[in-house]
Amino acid sequence: MTTTSEASLSPDVSDDIVALTDVSKTYRMGEVEVHALNHSDLRIPRGEFVAVLGPSGSGKTTLLNLIGGIDSPSSGSIVIDGLDISAFSRKQLTLFRREKVGFVFQFFNLIPTLTARENVQFALELAARDGKPSPLDAAGLLEKVGLGERLNHFPSQLSGGEQQRVAVARALAKDPSIVLGDEPTGNLDFRTGKLVLAALRDVSDNEGKTVIIVTHNQPLAEVADRVLHIRDGKIASIEINDNPVRPEDVVW
Ligand SMILES: Nc1ncnc2c1ncn2[C@@H]1O[C@H](COP(=O)(O)OP(=O)(O)O)[C@@H](O)[C@H]1O
Ligand SMILES: [Mg+2]
Repeated sequence: MTTTSEASLSPDVSDDIVALTDVSKTYRMGEVEVHALNHSDLRIPRGEFVAVLGPSGSGKTTLLNLIGGIDSPSSGSIVIDGLDISAFSRKQLTLFRREKVGFVFQFFNLIPTLTARENVQFALELAARDGKPSPLDAAGLLEKVGLGERLNHFPSQLSGGEQQRVAVARALAKDPSIVLGDEPTGNLDFRTGKLVLAALRDVSDNEGKTVIIVTHNQPLAEVADRVLHIRDGKIASIEINDNPVRPEDVVW
């Protein structure tokens, strides 16, 4: 058994990209305390596709925001890709998010006045490090998510599922270690939702990224290698799926 301090000093002892140890997040609203995440431990191996499943208010978004460095824990240790982000300052967290984490949100959040290609290009420019342009290109990223024929469309000229796939391409622009999706199909119908799910599954299968999506939709979670069931701020159980359902075969 490895203790926490050993694990954070020598991240190479395991290939876990996510390691949470005794993590709690408590929100205070005046006199009331909400234990959004309660003494949770979690390890996720690199390259997996993981679904976080649980009812509304169970702590899914809290967990994802802690992994992505959007929020900081009240206590406990969070090591992501070998970095102990629970000890990070706000500035270090901003850099961490910029370099390591691709986000896909429920409401796409594309820039309406930029085309699909320009939305991804903009992310590529933000991701350029030390003045060196990114080796990735916007058209190539959009082709990966099946939008090679939609490069010059504005968001308003794309379906919801297409907009979300632009968001997936944009998340890949920074070549992140980890891609996080908070209800990425929550605003989509069944058919287009499946295409987004397939694009995200591809990101883990073909790009070697770790993908973690939050959902309250059980059938959707069946495409994952690992399903975390979360209840009342606790990771209640973890299911390993040796034969995940292919996104095109999901029925919901
Ligand atoms: N910023 C916040 N301030 C106060 N309470 C919050 C905040 N964010 C979440 N909560 C509370 O924490 C609990 C878990 O929320 P959340 O992680 O958003 O759940 P889920 O994503 O599973 O719906 C809920 O009871 C919610 O009301
Ligand atoms: Mg949520």
